[in-house]
Amino acid sequence: MKILTTEDAIKTELIEKRGLSLIPTMGNLHSGHLSLVKGAKKYNLKTIATIFVNPLQFGPNEDFNRYPRTIESDIKKLEKIDCDYVFIPEIDFAKNLEIIKAPSISLELCGKNRPGHFDGVLTIINKIFSVILPTKAFFGLKDYQQFILIKEFAKVNFPGIQIFGLPIIREKDGLAMSSRNNLLSRDDRKVAPLIYESLTWIKKNINKLSNEDLIKFSTENLKKNNFEIDYLGVYDISNLKEINNFKESALIAIAAKLGNVRLIDNIIITNDNT
Ligand code: PAF
Repeated sequence: MKILTTEDAIKTELIEKRGLSLIPTMGNLHSGHLSLVKGAKKYNLKTIATIFVNPLQFGPNEDFNRYPRTIESDIKKLEKIDCDYVFIPEIDFAKNLEIIKAPSISLELCGKNRPGHFDGVLTIINKIFSVILPTKAFFGLKDYQQFILIKEFAKVNFPGIQIFGLPIIREKDGLAMSSRNNLLSRDDRKVAPLIYESLTWIKKNINKLSNEDLIKFSTENLKKNNFEIDYLGVYDISNLKEINNFKESALIAIAAKLGNVRLIDNIIITNDNT
């Protein structure tokens, strides 16, 4: 695997190569990220992962400084699964960029308590896409809102890039894999799977109870177990507005804090409840 650290290196190394599959990450790689690289490799294109903890997507009181940075082991993991390139730029990669204003969907769900977060994501994605110009780009569906914003952004600004959303990878106990899981205390780690249990419980009962009751009971249960809920609800899969009556498909999504660690998760359901 070739390690590239500058835009110039990207230009010289990749100029002749069209048809790259891109996997943008912020590092601290786990099986969720690696599943994106493996998914990308199925298309028989060269794969390029990026590792960059993007300061533009963290609010002033968020965890930019303590976001886990594990470059050495990330490189080893990527090498092991035959990723072709990794791009690890310096912090000034995010300097002097024109900030992309994310559309109104960015104000729902995570956007409510993280003002500017998705502007920061789209701004860095715009930069990464412009530098690498991949043919395909792969993202995890755990960040569902991010996924639909990037998909819409690419449709207009990078129509040549096909955007893929790949399934959430979970720990054995159901907890969605996330770099932030490493920040949980031992006790909090034990109760963290309740997030996924709540989502599956809502899915199971979606045709039996009102959405209001589903959310009320789940919220009570989570609060009893020390979760501080940012949002929990049943949402339209396209515009992310809360829906009261489940019809064909929906996104059940949550963001909640345990200690000072913010976790998100979701499941998408369809009318046959599969
Ligand atoms: O999902 C992430 O890790 C980040 O938001 C991304 C897409 C790499 C942009 O910094």
